[in-house]
Amino acid sequence: MKLKKEKFKDTEECYMPNGLRIGVYPGSFDPLTNGHLDIIHRASKLFDKLIVAVLHNDSKQAVFTMEERVELIKKCTCDIENVEVDMFSGLLVNYVKKKEAVAIVKGLRAVSDYEYELQMAMLNKHIDKNVETIFLMADIQNSFLSSSIVKELAKNGGNISGLVPEQIIDNINLKLRNTI
Ligand code: PNS
Repeated sequence: MKLKKEKFKDTEECYMPNGLRIGVYPGSFDPLTNGHLDIIHRASKLFDKLIVAVLHNDSKQAVFTMEERVELIKKCTCDIENVEVDMFSGLLVNYVKKKEAVAIVKGLRAVSDYEYELQMAMLNKHIDKNVETIFLMADIQNSFLSSSIVKELAKNGGNISGLVPEQIIDNINLKLRNTI
């Protein structure tokens, strides 16, 4: 594949396959919430291609399987032309390099997110100084939202409408009510 090289200030050459500017939005997405979807919509406008990358992590107990998480995200993003859904394991930096992406995208809900995300962004930059992290502030109405509270609510028969995309409400309720 022919790669176009671009030179950025203070960094080494950055490769963009076919001149495409690729972003990676990583996460557990167990399950996708309206907060995640908002970040996906906004980030997709900043890149030629945005890869939503679901982490395969054996040591973290997830409710939804990798395949289920990917399917739920695909169901909610099929109308966004430049979004691709994928899964990865191992170091995020290695995945970003493999995909020849120019940046990692993360959403920030509150100051409490910032400390952990800052540490991760610095660590990733330490591993590879060409890997940039871009933070998008969560919309105020999603600032309290997390996959964990969605699961807690659904598990206990609460109404998750308005917290997750409409088209996956039934999938989530069905799964959570069967895990009690
Ligand atoms: O949705 P989450 O669980 O907050 O996402 C966390 C994620 C997937 C972004 C983070 O755990 C991650 O990057 N994992 C990959 C492993 C890695 O590269 N860790 C940092 C170096 S130890």
